[in-house]
Amino acid sequence: MAKTMLIELEQVNKIYNRGKANEVRALRDVDLRVAAGELVCLKGPSGSGKSTLLAIIGCVFPPSSGRAAIAGRQLARLPDRFLTIHRRETIGFIFQRFNLLPALSVRDNIILPLLPLGVPPKECRRRARVLLERLGIAHRENFPAGRISGGELQRVAIARALINNQPLILADEPTAHLDSRLSHEFMAIMAELKAAGKTIIITSHDPLVAEHPAIDRVVEVHDGRVGDTAPEDHA
Ligand SMILES: Nc1ncnc2c1ncn2[C@@H]1O[C@H](COP(=O)(O)OP(=O)(O)O)[C@@H](O)[C@H]1O
Ligand SMILES: [Mg+2]
Repeated sequence: MAKTMLIELEQVNKIYNRGKANEVRALRDVDLRVAAGELVCLKGPSGSGKSTLLAIIGCVFPPSSGRAAIAGRQLARLPDRFLTIHRRETIGFIFQRFNLLPALSVRDNIILPLLPLGVPPKECRRRARVLLERLGIAHRENFPAGRISGGELQRVAIARALINNQPLILADEPTAHLDSRLSHEFMAIMAELKAAGKTIIITSHDPLVAEHPAIDRVVEVHDGRVGDTAPEDHA
């Protein structure tokens, strides 16, 4: 049986500041297909286009040209408002510095993505509770996010990316500011999420990510172009 493709990019280009003196061609004729359930590492030097590629996959903006279908929707055909709805339903983001609000409780940080969706407060709390238990931080539920450890913060950021049961998880250089113990722990959680059926894309030049046994595929990004390699090639 053919695999379900969650991400299908065809001849995707992204040009910032088109037609101006500071025009940048950030992506050039990118073809990329990712099947549901894959764990992929986008690897490449700074400025190569990884974050731009992740933004297109993440439905933050459509490509300047080419075709991008994410979870069965062609981005170019979606008006902005629907792109936002599609993003909220489909994608969980994990940011490099986690982007948590230190004064808010752990629970309130986790349920933040549910607020624009009008999910009733009781249901928000129930979902947060399930994820906090699953990630082993239930005892931190009412703590301000500014008062918990780095490892706990990482779990809160992951829980927030899962709160709407999104099928696709995107993480942009998640280990850039983590020590090796927390980086290992991060990848162990990603491996568990993959086993639970999530599709995950991680940008990184950290070998600890690219060479992790749970990674199915490393996609090299160079000057806005991509090329595939099997993870074995990096051993
Ligand atoms: N919002 C933007 N406006 C203009 N140029 C940008 C913008 N974002 C990224 N770029 C440029 O696009 C290229 C790719 O950047 P980026 O996708 O952030 O690469 P990476 O994540 O691999 O470091 C770089 O030359 C960068 O300077
Ligand atoms: Mg980047």
